[in-house]
Amino acid sequence: MKRFVVGISGASGMPLAVTLLRGLRNAAQALPGGVQVHLVVSDAARQVLALESDLRETDLLALADVVHDARDFGAPPSSGSWPHDGMVVCPCSMSTLAAIAHGTGSNLLHRAADVTLKERRPLVLVVRETPVSRVHLRNMLAAAEAGAVIMPPCPGFYARPASVQDILDHLAGRILDQIGVPNALAARWGEAADTE
Ligand SMILES: Cc1cc2nc3c(=O)[nH]c(=O)nc-3n(C[C@H](O)[C@H](O)[C@H](O)COP(=O)(O)O)c2cc1C
Repeated sequence: MKRFVVGISGASGMPLAVTLLRGLRNAAQALPGGVQVHLVVSDAARQVLALESDLRETDLLALADVVHDARDFGAPPSSGSWPHDGMVVCPCSMSTLAAIAHGTGSNLLHRAADVTLKERRPLVLVVRETPVSRVHLRNMLAAAEAGAVIMPPCPGFYARPASVQDILDHLAGRILDQIGVPNALAARWGEAADTE
């Protein structure tokens, strides 16, 4: 069984977080042994969810196998002795990026990311802000130098998306690629031509 931690912080992008969680759920059905998803949602993320999406908080939480309270520093993701296969923070606010980049965590999401870095496991930060300041850029570099993958949710138009959901699917698929989860969400450059 593969086990992943997903952190949702209070940046814009809740529909992408939902698409990612649904993608992990679908992968669980396809992968032998399945996938277990542990979710941590910051307080600000709950506020942004209510503003950006019609999805109820309970429906979001239901997409994970285990939900941890962001204030619970005793939860399994806070310890390196608890094995997992990678963590994605999606979306990752500039505030959460700063906490991860500087090791100054104040909630379970930050702590879990800190642990993921120290254990040299995959950590993907789907950083969302625009434009970005020098502070943001320095923090992205610091996190990248510590081992994180910095993955702003920039749409690719080469796959000719016909809807917002197409864009979200492609982004979520590319995030899943980073943690080694096979998926049919991302459009694959060159593959359409192979089948013609
Ligand atoms: C609707 C809404 C959208 C926001 N979008 C962003 C964003 O895209 N990026 C960002 O860094 N902060 C954004 N914020 C501000 C963060 O929520 C705020 O900095 C918060 O302290 C982040 O806390 P967290 O990192 O613990 O989730 C947004 C806030 C709201 C209410």
